[in-house]
Amino acid sequence: MQQAEIGLIGLGVMGANLSLNIAEKGNRIAVFNRTFARTQEFMAEAGDLADRIVPCETIEQFVASIRPPRPIIIMIKAGEPVDQQMELLKPYLEKGDIMIDAGNANFRDTVRRFDWLKDTGLTFIGMGVSGGEEGARHGPSIMVGGTEESWKRVEPVLTSISAKFNNDPCVAWLGPDGAGHFVKTIHNGIEYADMQMIAEIYGILRDGLGRSATEIGTMFGSWNKGRLNSYLIEITEKVLMAADPESGKPMVDMILDKAGQKGTGKWSVIEAQQMGIPATAIEAAVAARSLSSMKAEREVAEKMFGKETARFELAGGNVEADLELALFAAKIAAYAQGFAVMSGASEEFSWNLPMPTIAKIWRAGCIIRSQFLDEITRAFTANPDAANLIVTPAFSVMVKESLPSLRRVVAAAVTAGLPVPALASALTYFDAYRQARGSANLIQAQRDFFGAHGFDRIDGKDFHHGPWGSGAATF
Ligand code: 6PG
Repeated sequence: MQQAEIGLIGLGVMGANLSLNIAEKGNRIAVFNRTFARTQEFMAEAGDLADRIVPCETIEQFVASIRPPRPIIIMIKAGEPVDQQMELLKPYLEKGDIMIDAGNANFRDTVRRFDWLKDTGLTFIGMGVSGGEEGARHGPSIMVGGTEESWKRVEPVLTSISAKFNNDPCVAWLGPDGAGHFVKTIHNGIEYADMQMIAEIYGILRDGLGRSATEIGTMFGSWNKGRLNSYLIEITEKVLMAADPESGKPMVDMILDKAGQKGTGKWSVIEAQQMGIPATAIEAAVAARSLSSMKAEREVAEKMFGKETARFELAGGNVEADLELALFAAKIAAYAQGFAVMSGASEEFSWNLPMPTIAKIWRAGCIIRSQFLDEITRAFTANPDAANLIVTPAFSVMVKESLPSLRRVVAAAVTAGLPVPALASALTYFDAYRQARGSANLIQAQRDFFGAHGFDRIDGKDFHHGPWGSGAATF
């Protein structure tokens, strides 16, 4: 029998959808699941595509069904289960075979797994896959990290199943070991910021302007036709327009305001902090999810302090246009921060991450897909050495145009007592980034006062301690 081009372990929703996508694009695939009953159920649902799928009951049969060097996608719960699966699989594999972790792994685990296989003749790919269940089935964005040789082996299959933006496949090899999973992590960090900023605008409209869910949905619908056009804005409209089948009320009004999180946002922030790169909008978004989950504490606090009820009043400007532009400005800051973190990691880990390519493969298939990413692609292609997205010519124009709206919106929200942590972080990021002389001179003086840490002088003179007198640290 003709051998399969690729294998996949783990027929949960993502694994099943990815397998069907692979088969649909004309590739033969072998599948294995811990319980064979699930494999049989999957085959029964595969319809015509079943002809290209080889269901395997044992690991031996599974491995033998794949053309060497064998690429094997592991699509199971991230963390410990991946290590266990790799241990189980390893004895059956031969030189050149490639284990591929397609889950949302922490890139540090990916580097560790890559190293574990290094001297065995086997190799490892850490593959970020974005686009949720639909994406996996019909075209995800795929971020690959591993050796170039292993990438060459999987490139045809991955290219065939990836999303396409104007016929450009949204898949790329981004660098060695953890590069793909790192980029996926930052994708998710940006996703957190994008979602939080949208939620803050929704909060202003709901609590500061008394708009209903459907009114707000209509507004997002119209914004989706403009510069904010993106998958997240599109689904926001759909979510806000949906009614709860039980109560008939807007579905969104019936959902508890506690956001879940599985870790990728937090990892983005941890890595940014480790490298000393500010990612304030992403940090604010992660913290906002954590605060949202403290529902009981917030209920107590609202009783104690009362809820600020002031109406959201903008100083001039058209409220809808200002909110739209404010969201756009904040979005620029979040993406600028995410790309800055990737640039830092590229240097730190010697990955040589290709920024224009990353923007390119995020234009379709993934959760943050948008037209906006095409503009980022062009900006980084034209200015590969830009220190930050916001100083590229095209984005500097956009920032200048949209920043006043963000300032008005944040000011009005703060005055009304409406929490806008991510929008405010984005605003202060711009303000601090463009300040040639900030206030850290005082911090340096304080550090020198209590710890004799020294400072650099603006006149360059070689005298690095202040005349602090008694009470100051002696040096
Ligand atoms: C994607 C999503 C996907 C998933 C995250 C959400 O790119 O397809 O980001 O990876 O939805 O796991 O993460 P949280 O559960 O942390 O929101």
